[in-house]
Amino acid sequence: MSLQLRKIYVQIDNIEDISYTDLSLFGLDDDLIESLRELTFKSFDMEMEAPIVNNSWIYFYVDMNKIISVLMITQTSFEVLDRYKTGYYIYNICTESNYRCKGLTSSLIRLAIHDVYTINNSALLYLTTGINDDKPIGLYETLNFSIIDMVFFNDEDHVVMIHK
Ligand SMILES: CC(C)(COP(=O)(O)OP(=O)(O)OC[C@H]1O[C@@H](n2cnc3c(N)ncnc32)[C@H](O)[C@@H]1OP(=O)(O)O)[C@@H](O)C(=O)NCCC(=O)NCCS
Repeated sequence: MSLQLRKIYVQIDNIEDISYTDLSLFGLDDDLIESLRELTFKSFDMEMEAPIVNNSWIYFYVDMNKIISVLMITQTSFEVLDRYKTGYYIYNICTESNYRCKGLTSSLIRLAIHDVYTINNSALLYLTTGINDDKPIGLYETLNFSIIDMVFFNDEDHVVMIHK
């Protein structure tokens, strides 16, 4: 398996969310965009596409011109998370099912942590995950995230975890 690691920053003036097709503006070709759309759609139990918040870094691994693992990180707070306004929020964390348990998400999270602390070593870095049993709270704990709060969105209770 020879994976390519890529990182892009997506930013367009005066909009809230970036659409998947807009990603061509940031150097992603149609196959990559489609694979990202499919990856996030399959990974999350939602009727709609997983939103890409404007002003986000997107970290991802590519195999054979498909995105097979991704995370996004933004300082633009979701409304429900207003109380963490100044923090960096890691979201849309997912790996294609055939590529799971190979350390890809862990390595993307470690990279994001490294990059954020390089910008500001006292930054608040947080993520959310559902509280159902199948959610990877344990994975995040091994990466030094701890539960500090609860929020409700997308019809589900979520824990808020910050990096220590
Ligand atoms: C959770 C997810 C992103 C992990 O991706 P990954 O690339 O397989 O992660 P890693 O290989 O770095 O880590 C896997 C480790 O986390 C654990 N893990 C993975 N998914 C888990 C889950 N749902 N519950 C508990 N632990 C989980 C594995 O046991 C594994 O531990 P091990 O390496 O000691 O065996 C992936 O399973 C996924 O895309 N799930 C669907 C989408 C999702 O739930 N995203 C998170 C929303 S916050």
